[in-house]
Amino acid sequence: MMTTLYEGAFAKLNLTLDVLGKRPDGYHDLKSVMQTVSIRDDVEIDIGTGKPWTLECSMEGIPTDERNLAWKAAEVYCEQIGKNPDGISIRITKRIPSGAGMGGGSADAAAVLRALNRHYGEPLSILALAELGARIGSDVPFCTLGGTAMVEGRGERLRRLPDMPDCVFVVCKPEFSVSTAELYQKIDQVAIPKRPDHQAMETALLSGDLSRVAENIWNVFDPVVTAEHLELNYIKSIFNTYGSLNQQMTGSGSACFAILDSFEYAAVVCNMLKENYSQIFIAKPV
Ligand code: C5P
Repeated sequence: MMTTLYEGAFAKLNLTLDVLGKRPDGYHDLKSVMQTVSIRDDVEIDIGTGKPWTLECSMEGIPTDERNLAWKAAEVYCEQIGKNPDGISIRITKRIPSGAGMGGGSADAAAVLRALNRHYGEPLSILALAELGARIGSDVPFCTLGGTAMVEGRGERLRRLPDMPDCVFVVCKPEFSVSTAELYQKIDQVAIPKRPDHQAMETALLSGDLSRVAENIWNVFDPVVTAEHLELNYIKSIFNTYGSLNQQMTGSGSACFAILDSFEYAAVVCNMLKENYSQIFIAKPV
């Protein structure tokens, strides 16, 4: 019998991001405070179709075969629990911009893991599910857990942090995208002038003081990408002029976000950007 599962896939923002060094496997150890936000894709899964696997996505340019992380997640999950799903069809309604540093593909994969785990009666704990996510991609473990968390290693070591204080994010995705692999290569060749203060960020989150949290956001990739794309300075200056507490790029870019304490200011910021940018979002922490 065919069953349809529904799950939301939430985007992430990196409140902090530090690259600690290159590992023997070629990847980099990082340390990052990540936050899920209310910009979401919708994932629907038909399970037990009795037909070959399929995947559809509402956004062009996204792979619709086994290269898609959502497809990979279904494969890895079924293999892990030793079940034959007898045909899976995945449909993704995409809203998370791609090439943004917001973990869109990873969020979809994490949604598939959660939905399948629920379908099979929760055989895996959320932490076991996140661990499984590490086999799919570096951001999948965090996207599986969601909320506010400290993420370390390649992305597989997670520790829950106090919730981000109530706030509004404005996210702006410029047209250009950044190659994550090239950016990691580049950061190996430059001295990192400033790193996030994770102790201060944890204390700020514990205090629930939004201004202190905003003061402590820092992404080591931001100056590297901004040096080549001065447009990011323009977006940040608009954010800053219209009431943002602080602003920076997320992940490996190219989306930039502002933290605000008022929806009204957030609406003004969006208005000021909409003439030049088509991908602007207002979001809350989730
Ligand atoms: O995780 P994602 O597939 O977006 O990573 C793209 C590339 O970024 C990897 O192939 C690798 O070169 C680099 N990377 C890294 N260390 C990480 C994450 C990504 O070197 N922790």
